[in-house]
Amino acid sequence: THARLVVDPAFVVGPVRRRTFGSFVEHLGRSVYTGIHDPGHPTADADGFRGDVIELVRELGVSTVRYPGGNFVSGYKWEDGVGPQGERPTRLDLAWHSSEPNTVGLDEFVRWARKADVEPMMAVNLGTRGVAEAIELLEYSNVDGGTQLSEQRRANGSDSPHAISLWCLGNEMDGPWQTGHKTAAEYGRLAAETARAMRQIDPDLELVACGSSASDMPTFGAWEHEVLTETYELVDLISAHIYFAEHDGDLASFLAAGVRMDSFIDSIVATADAVRAAGKHSKRIHISLDEWNVWYQDRAESRPPSGTDWPVAPVLLEDRYTVADAVVVGGLLISLLRHTDRVHAASLAQLVNVIAPIMTEPGGRIWKQTTFHPFAQASALARGVVLHTALEVPTYESARYGTAGFVDSVATWDAESGDLVVFAVNRGIEDAAELAVDLRIEGLELVEATSYAHDDPYWAATVDDDTTVLPRANVTAALDGARVTVTLPPVSWNVLRLR
Ligand code: AHR
Repeated sequence: THARLVVDPAFVVGPVRRRTFGSFVEHLGRSVYTGIHDPGHPTADADGFRGDVIELVRELGVSTVRYPGGNFVSGYKWEDGVGPQGERPTRLDLAWHSSEPNTVGLDEFVRWARKADVEPMMAVNLGTRGVAEAIELLEYSNVDGGTQLSEQRRANGSDSPHAISLWCLGNEMDGPWQTGHKTAAEYGRLAAETARAMRQIDPDLELVACGSSASDMPTFGAWEHEVLTETYELVDLISAHIYFAEHDGDLASFLAAGVRMDSFIDSIVATADAVRAAGKHSKRIHISLDEWNVWYQDRAESRPPSGTDWPVAPVLLEDRYTVADAVVVGGLLISLLRHTDRVHAASLAQLVNVIAPIMTEPGGRIWKQTTFHPFAQASALARGVVLHTALEVPTYESARYGTAGFVDSVATWDAESGDLVVFAVNRGIEDAAELAVDLRIEGLELVEATSYAHDDPYWAATVDDDTTVLPRANVTAALDGARVTVTLPPVSWNVLRLR
């Protein structure tokens, strides 16, 4: 396979946004309890937060963290999670058929977020609750003091307001599995009135309306249209969720996941802009891709407990990721970056233990999944602006997602530091790809080229071995004048850095 990429700094899509590198902590399985919070762990701080997890969250380069759900939020009473520990109730969590001890709540999460140096992205419950509880939560969280709820926060130990700017108006309200699931008309009205009331407290909040929970939802498109027609002037972003898995051994389709991501984003943009035109609006609605990842939903570990079993923090959704999964994650990051003009926020779902790049043993070791690496590299190295690039590449037909290039790539350019970074995946299963990058920038030198690949694309990291496959120097990379050439191994994620 031969591919040619032309990179010209004059053609800019938009800024690299830190919020593209967000993630997600839900009260689900071992994400919170024995994940970020594990008071008995040797590295735990006074609040019970694991220091080793915080360290890896920083290394991963996470910007925002969405909280507390997910499906969990649609039955959640935020008041249960604040105040003296001894007075917090244990409740049934219907979403994950678990018990929620409420040891960690809003105040603890915000403290964790400050320590991990991430921005909290908070969700309100629009499943079992509504406008009143949303504005009460906002008052508790963001008002300085002088009111009952803000003073309650101060008495609970958070003197300064939490100053949370980014808020999700519910979660996946289009999904029949959601507690308090609604039609688009019902949800659109509720989201509009919730947004209106929240803005009476703070007009500058950034509000996310629920879009579709998958690209193949029967209401996809129509849902966004109706919800945005109700909420257009009251919200800033529409959410989108998408998960991928390899089905029936069809690796070629799985590796083409980015093609579906591209068309998913393009369809949401088209729908939002159609509502803009029909409503004679001038602002644009942007996308919060606030759940995306590889997730093997059909596997047993994705099934919640049942019957009378309501455990605290059960093992749930603890997918083990392969090299191929990491290459797909890298390909999805390429798609998100390419759409930086309209995707203004994104969250890898999730962060710790639950479909996560970071895994922990209760009270014990911590380890990195394969998917950690493309995310960490992209977050660390994508800077400045995303460039429109021209890519000539042979294609193949994938059964699920149609025509896909054997190589996909995106480039970022930081005029200040002079850093040009090219991220590329090779979707070829058998063949290496020869990539030539023609640079329309003078005087660059090759700083580094790395590839993440393995002879066995199904190699998966474990608690005993998470280092056999790491991004390693690609010695085939060479710069000749204004052209870089590099051989991309089959099923690989690659990074070229020039300055
Ligand atoms: O991330 C796991 C679950 O996936 C979330 O709770 C839900 O929003 C989505 O369906």
